[in-house]
Amino acid sequence: MSNKGVRNLFIFGSLFFFVILLGLTFDTMSRIDKRAPEITEEVDQGKRLWHKYDCIGCHTILGNGSYFAPDLTKTTANKPVSYIKKFLVNPRKVNPRASMPVLGITEEEAEKIVAFLDWISKVDTNGWPPEPVLAAVPQAMAGGAAVYQKYDCSACHMIGGVGGTSGPDLTHVASRQPDPEWHRRHLVDPASVVPDSAMPPFAHLSEEELNQLVDYLLTLK
Ligand code: HEC
Ligand code: HEC
Repeated sequence: MSNKGVRNLFIFGSLFFFVILLGLTFDTMSRIDKRAPEITEEVDQGKRLWHKYDCIGCHTILGNGSYFAPDLTKTTANKPVSYIKKFLVNPRKVNPRASMPVLGITEEEAEKIVAFLDWISKVDTNGWPPEPVLAAVPQAMAGGAAVYQKYDCSACHMIGGVGGTSGPDLTHVASRQPDPEWHRRHLVDPASVVPDSAMPPFAHLSEEELNQLVDYLLTLK
């Protein structure tokens, strides 16, 4: 190629890609507001509390923060709000092994922080971050194990090393709690047998699901 050819290739090549860059930039900017819900007063106050308590000193959201504690971008998609509120006020009361300190958050403040976390959870992030790997083990299951899977109990509980750590490990739960009646009452309304339980109630289980689930839990010795 002659010198002139090289020069033309450079100029028109650069122009071509610059125009594409501009087009993509405008396209992104025009869509960005639609990717997040409205910011309410409560969300705004929650954001301020997020900084007041330096949550970002341990956690990340949308990729920003520290890597000491789990990413919180999709918290309310993975955990019920009632659980998160209790956890924020006193992590160790909810989960005796929690290493998150008691930060002195009041119930009112927890409400606002959760509003902020819920807002973040609803931001369209193109599927990032991926679902926690441990909570999603696709396996052909039947009976109570399938019910356990259906209601995503493994988001909080571990059986045989698979699952989350927010609630107690259930690998040997039947040795601690062998009474089927206790389990039935606990699943439908946890606080009726464990005062101030942070586990969400599963009152919407059908009678059959409840029976199967309790049978399954009683096999975990
Ligand atoms: C000193 C570090 C630290 C600070 C500060 C901190 N956290 Fe945490 N947080 C943790 C750790 C560690 C965990 C993982 C669970 C555990 O071991 O406690 C956690 C877990 C969580 C969870 C998930 C609980 C679960 O079971 O899924 C939420 C929600 C959370 N933190 C919110 C917050 C918010 C909101 C703030 C600020 C108000 C905050 N954290 C401040 C360390 C911290
Ligand atoms: C958001 C987190 C969360 C989810 C989801 C959850 N649990 Fe729990 N679970 C907890 C917490 C926290 C406790 C400890 C307080 C209590 O005993 O109620 C607990 C306790 C338990 C216990 C008693 C364990 C023991 O050692 O005494 C059983 C059994 C149990 N859960 C079963 C289930 C089943 C089955 C499901 C699904 C239908 C489920 N949990 C869903 C958080 C959760």
